[in-house]
Amino acid sequence: MTNPFSERLLAWYDQYGRKDLPWQINASPYHVWLSEVMLQQTQVATVIPYYQRFTQRFPDIDSLADANIDDVLGLWAGLGYYARGRNLHKAAIQMQQQHDAQVPENFEALLSLPGVGRSTAGAIMSLAFHQRFPILDGNVKRVLARYDAIPVWPGEKQAETAMWQRAEALLPTERIANYIQAQMDLGATLCTRSRPACQQCPLQTDCQAFASGEPTLFPVRKAKKSQPTRKTNWFVCIDKNNNILLEQRPHSGIWGGLWSFPEAETSEITDHSLPVKHIVFQSSLSEIKHVFSHFKLLIHPHLVTAEPIDMVAENKLYIWVKIDQALTMGLPAPVKQLIEFLSSTERML
Ligand code: ADE
Ligand code: SF4
Repeated sequence: MTNPFSERLLAWYDQYGRKDLPWQINASPYHVWLSEVMLQQTQVATVIPYYQRFTQRFPDIDSLADANIDDVLGLWAGLGYYARGRNLHKAAIQMQQQHDAQVPENFEALLSLPGVGRSTAGAIMSLAFHQRFPILDGNVKRVLARYDAIPVWPGEKQAETAMWQRAEALLPTERIANYIQAQMDLGATLCTRSRPACQQCPLQTDCQAFASGEPTLFPVRKAKKSQPTRKTNWFVCIDKNNNILLEQRPHSGIWGGLWSFPEAETSEITDHSLPVKHIVFQSSLSEIKHVFSHFKLLIHPHLVTAEPIDMVAENKLYIWVKIDQALTMGLPAPVKQLIEFLSSTERML
């Protein structure tokens, strides 16, 4: 029993797959386990020199289990994620004690080793022991999410369960080790995150994401929490000399200390605290959306004419300025945008 996915992948592997990585040459289960743990969060090119130093110093499980943890971490230094180095040492001790210093040919026993999750256990079962077990690391998730154009974020528990089933169903009955390596290679070299090389891809003819025309829309991203929207009204007060009225924002809070337009929750100008008289509404301008990290601000600007009065406003600083001068002041982006719009369209009176 086989399927187009695994057939095409294996044919591609014969021609383009990686066959001379250090852990593929005379690969013992120990070497496969060690390399898979090293490769969990680190790229092949980075891993190779570490792998070589490690295997020279610790050629088997006994030598690793008997080593001082500081020596192990010393050789690990630079690979990052030190929990992996500690777990590696613990796992070697566990194998020494429970499995005769051998990597167990048993999925559950592998899964119980520190630092070995379901995908790594699957990789060891297939690459080292030629048993039919799927893997589902980041690369394989991406390839499957694209091949099936899965419409949900793969971090979703249900989606992940479904992908494990799919990964299992696609396994070929022959050449399992080559197939698993081929999946890793395809994800790392062709079906990359941001620039999949679909034109060279053996799966192109039945890849649903390719058929959609936008393969990078898969895997679907996590739905963002919808951000609350706050509304505000801004009053662009203009006097007969074409000065505009700006108000300095409080130093605490958004846009602290920058110059903005007087604002209110409603579109009526009932705010007698402004240093103006003879306010006359002229027109409303198109709304402006501004996105902050935690909310959206929907701004309704209104153009009004008014005359300055002398007034000392409590706790607030106002200034009447010409547009050119305003543009040299510290302005929040949407204020600047609005002033530039006013000056370019000669909306001034
Ligand atoms: N990433 C994880 N396992 C790998 C392997 N065996 N070869 C290449 N990249 C990998
Ligand atoms: Fe990935 Fe493109 Fe191949 Fe589909 S056709 S698996 S998107 S590289």
